[in-house]
Amino acid sequence: MKPVKVGLLGLGTVGTGVVRIVQGNQEDLSSQVGSPIHIERIAVKNCDKPRSIEIDPAKLTTDPWEVIRDPEIDVIVEVMGGVDATREYILEALERGKHIVTANKDLMALYGSEILEKAQEKQCDVFYEASVAGGIPIIRTLIEGFSSDRIVKIMGIVNGTTNYILTKMSQEGASYDDVLKEAQELGYAESDPTSDVEGLDAARKMAILGTLGFRTNVELRDVSVSGISGVSKEDILFAKRLGYEMKLLGIAESHNDEFNISVQPTMIRSSHPIASVNGVFNAVYVYGEAVGETMFYGAGAGEMPTATSVVADLVAVIKNLKLGVNGLKQIVPYKNKKLKSDDD
Ligand code: NAP
Ligand code: HSE
Repeated sequence: MKPVKVGLLGLGTVGTGVVRIVQGNQEDLSSQVGSPIHIERIAVKNCDKPRSIEIDPAKLTTDPWEVIRDPEIDVIVEVMGGVDATREYILEALERGKHIVTANKDLMALYGSEILEKAQEKQCDVFYEASVAGGIPIIRTLIEGFSSDRIVKIMGIVNGTTNYILTKMSQEGASYDDVLKEAQELGYAESDPTSDVEGLDAARKMAILGTLGFRTNVELRDVSVSGISGVSKEDILFAKRLGYEMKLLGIAESHNDEFNISVQPTMIRSSHPIASVNGVFNAVYVYGEAVGETMFYGAGAGEMPTATSVVADLVAVIKNLKLGVNGLKQIVPYKNKKLKSDDD
């Protein structure tokens, strides 16, 4: 059977996991989609870098355009990161009729509407499940699972690095700098961890969740942000003595045609379910008018949990490709709700 050909942009933490799953589960994946899945080309920064998996060197290139322009490639999996150049690659790939899977929340929070509009025009898929909460399928859940309901509140621990840091500081009295270094070594942190610790990564994810949950276009500037770099070990231990845990919490609320979204270090009563979400784990609480309270929990970062979501998207894209349909329509066109200001 003719294989589906995939171009991979990036072979770091997530890209390595993607290759491991596609190679390791090839038989099962092929039987799900009805043809073999071949990773044909891989763009990296340095072709000579030692890798933890075996890769045919002929597949590697340092030029992402070579992958984008390869007429044989059906689907681009973008796990490279970055915004401006990556936006160009994705838009050009869509122009050429290629389907996209991405884990890039920075890109989707800033240019999601533009990219999804282009995808719609070209009748291509863009799936981005791994961009929020790593291994938790929360994007699918908001788009499909709750399409019947009106979501009024989304609350979440959506950054694994900061939750790992806060947990270790709280439970082991570890120092902020040491744990941040550990989170970087474990592949949880962004290449520039400032976006983790200053809350920007969580803000981007909350903008995506707000957009999908409230079915409006949430801009990044609509999210008020404060990170954990100013939180001391003493603050955390003091909160603990009072019966609270310190968490970096994203809170999004919608009422009528208004919404409000913030990310900030928050003291949560130790008895609250979200207070017991520790380490790299994430949790997203969703309240819908009809469904009431729901909560989703799982690993929020790291190689294999994140790759699970990426490859699940790849399977979904290939199934659609085979059926000649596009899936998970979102964003276009959403009615714009108003950002609730403090003066309202
Ligand atoms: P990473 O480990 O830093 O890997 C980035 C990969 O991209 C590397 O293979 C690098 O090449 C390659 N690369 C970077 N710039 C390039 C360029 N200009 N041209 C060609 N190749 C380039 O990053 P990651 O942690 O896997 O994250 C990738 C994406 O997934 C990011 O958007 C991130 O936000 C998102 N994400 C990450 C996680 C996680 O847990 N890590 C979870 C969810 C989403 P070299 O290998 O040669 O350096
Ligand atoms: N740096 C991110 C985090 C990766 O720690 O949550 C997952 O998006």
